[in-house]
Amino acid sequence: AEFFSYFWKSVCRSPLGMSRGQILDEDISASSQWSDSTAAKYGRLDCEEGDGAWCPEIAGEPENMNEFLQIDLRSLHFITLVGTQGRHAGGIGNEFAQTYKIKYSRDGSRWISWRNRQGKEVIEGNRNAYDIVLKDLEPPIIARFVRFMPVIDHSMNVCMRVELYGCEWLDGLVSYNSPLGQQMTLNGHHIYLNDSVYDGAMGYSMTEGLGQLTDGMCGLDDFTHSHVYNVWPGYDYVGWTNESFLSGYVEIMFEFDRTRNFTTMKVHCNNMFSRRVKTFQKVVCYFRSELDWEATPISFSPVMDDVNPSARFVTVSLYNHMASAIKCQYYFSDIWMMFSEITFQSDTAMYNTTLAPPKTGPPIRDDPTHKVDDSNTRILIGCLVAIIFILVVIIVIILWRQVWQKMLEKVSRRMLDDELTASLSIQSETFTYNNNNSPSSVSSEQESNSTYERIFPLGPDYQEPSRLVRKLPEFSQTSEDTGEFQNVQEGVPHYAEADIVNLQGVTGGNTYAVPALTMDLLSGKDVAVEEFPRKLLTFKEKLGEGQFGEVHLCEAEGMQDFMDEDFSFDVIENQTVLVAVKMLRADANKNARNDFLKEIKIMSRLKGPNIIRLLAVCMSSDPLCMITEYMENGDLNQFLSRHEPEGMIALLSNAPTVSYSNLHHMASQIASGMKYLSSLNFVHRDLATRNCLVGKNYTIKIADFGMSRNLYSGDYYRIQGRAVLPIRWMSWESILLGKFTTSSDVWAFGVTLWEMLTFCKEQPYSQLSDEQVIENTGEFFRDQRRQIYLPQPPMCPDPVYKLMLSCWNRNTKERPSFQEIHQTLLDCKP
Ligand code: ADE
Repeated sequence: AEFFSYFWKSVCRSPLGMSRGQILDEDISASSQWSDSTAAKYGRLDCEEGDGAWCPEIAGEPENMNEFLQIDLRSLHFITLVGTQGRHAGGIGNEFAQTYKIKYSRDGSRWISWRNRQGKEVIEGNRNAYDIVLKDLEPPIIARFVRFMPVIDHSMNVCMRVELYGCEWLDGLVSYNSPLGQQMTLNGHHIYLNDSVYDGAMGYSMTEGLGQLTDGMCGLDDFTHSHVYNVWPGYDYVGWTNESFLSGYVEIMFEFDRTRNFTTMKVHCNNMFSRRVKTFQKVVCYFRSELDWEATPISFSPVMDDVNPSARFVTVSLYNHMASAIKCQYYFSDIWMMFSEITFQSDTAMYNTTLAPPKTGPPIRDDPTHKVDDSNTRILIGCLVAIIFILVVIIVIILWRQVWQKMLEKVSRRMLDDELTASLSIQSETFTYNNNNSPSSVSSEQESNSTYERIFPLGPDYQEPSRLVRKLPEFSQTSEDTGEFQNVQEGVPHYAEADIVNLQGVTGGNTYAVPALTMDLLSGKDVAVEEFPRKLLTFKEKLGEGQFGEVHLCEAEGMQDFMDEDFSFDVIENQTVLVAVKMLRADANKNARNDFLKEIKIMSRLKGPNIIRLLAVCMSSDPLCMITEYMENGDLNQFLSRHEPEGMIALLSNAPTVSYSNLHHMASQIASGMKYLSSLNFVHRDLATRNCLVGKNYTIKIADFGMSRNLYSGDYYRIQGRAVLPIRWMSWESILLGKFTTSSDVWAFGVTLWEMLTFCKEQPYSQLSDEQVIENTGEFFRDQRRQIYLPQPPMCPDPVYKLMLSCWNRNTKERPSFQEIHQTLLDCKP
């Protein structure tokens, strides 16, 4: 029932054609007009034709309220909303109706004044000549003709532009005649069960009108309450007591616009049996086609429900009877009978689901023979088809964008290649690799100088870093003055995009960026890792999840055969070992699959004591798996977050502690792991505590989980939904120029060290927003002492903070190497 009311209110609200012109000029008339240029046909909302609105000719008494603008909708409509506007006429006009009334008619002869549910006729209108004011009609109107009647008091001239909103009234019901609703006394309180919005005549009975039984508003389970604010108890229902009906039934007669072929009638009934209210026990309906009532009625007895007190629609089959009027006798089954809606479904009442739904309810609950409601099914199917259509359109748009992007990438790559070839011929020996991935001449600086344009090639909404730099006001001047920036622009060797391996791990990561030389070595050989029999893996628990798969903790049997002699893994012969198994989702796309294979290739070559080790793979069948050693203490960020430094806080809170000496030991291991990676010219690009794993005895191994772990999504900045960057760990040149080098890994090491010394209790630059972090990067570039450095953590010794600051040196060449960092840490060992 809620759905039913909601459906009407939300869906049946289409403009009926004043502004868009579906209502023809000839169907718009008025009591009078000020001039030809303010005739009725100019009273269309949001239109500026003629003199910009309909304006009546004001004559006679000030209280003359009979001027009207009339719209003929040509057929019955369910009108839920009206809109009004004054005469603006490009700023010349200033006439509008501050208040107005509405009259309506179904047949063009009997006119009914609209009143709201509280009985008020006057509607608040416009406050200026230009804004559109919309008013919900509560109750809605069922009519063919509508008149807008400005309330004219001669304090100002009045002009109007209007629109009606709703949908066609396909029920075809033009009136119902029924006995008056009655009054119940409940615990000394009156419950008024009259039809308070009935718009016909009310004498001993109600004749020739429509009202609450057709207002689209279903009553609640408890008839003493209402959806409508500020109304009396019993408002939603029309009700009768059997004491007044000796015949045992209430008879209601329904008149229709023409002869129709009726399929069903739905009656929304209250069933609060604790208050002696029940659905009808039987209904007998007579049909009138032409002028005569048919002799044989149909009769239907719903199954009574003494268990569920909910209000419900009871559906009565009308067996395709042809009729222009129906008379139904509803038999009491208890003292009271209360209805809030009655709707009819007939042959021609096929609503267009997108605009005007049929006035039907949810599937009936108490009629076992009518469990499936046809018209509802039709609405649902209509909605589903519409949703599927929208989804298909979205998918097509996404695919189209991807194809378009690929084309752009191809073009840009070709342009880059050309550019590179041109540069090669000018710059002689400075380049390291050409675009065939083979060394053309060996550079002194073995670094991966990728740029964003290359890593995230030409996304349509991506702002190139070079533009970011250009935005900085000092850029043009500084770029000439500073030798270093010129160097960045011209002299530093860089790779073609194809030379940079930008991997997306299962967790959606970027794994290490590998310069072409290394990739060459890799691609020249087979992957040095063996296939592991999948059946020897036993799942224990899930360790993590990313965009392209999951990481599981598994027990592996016989893993010792898969480990090198140089890899010390304390396993006892024939015992199972715990391993981490990274699995690619079986439905992962081709790119994700390729990236997974590349990641395996790279990982299989990395054999440092402080780099996570790939032990074996399962590639013979899906899902592809990478088996790595298991680090029992999880990632370093979470590990440190749940520990405290030794001291008072830990003593008081009883939290587990990590001594400074162990912290120092862990930092040295990270430096050592990075020393190893940099010796192979691997650029990590996302060094941070979240990418380091902690094993037994504070052992640390560097990994790369990628950027899609929810837990750390706040550490990454999205450039308009495309590039995802760990900006708080990135050097100024990575952010502004897209240059990722071992020197930028050194910068990130400094931030990682800072995280460790603050026990990962806060994010770096936590007081700055992402945008402010990028602004601060500009300050690093300008180097006018306005840049903000991460502060010295309380427990951080001076030499260690000095080391951090050296990692954040503006000049990449003045930053220490990992070799030097490792040595410095060893030198200041506690
Ligand atoms: N989560 C993901 N990989 C892991 C590993 N190798 N050890 C522990 N936890 C992990």
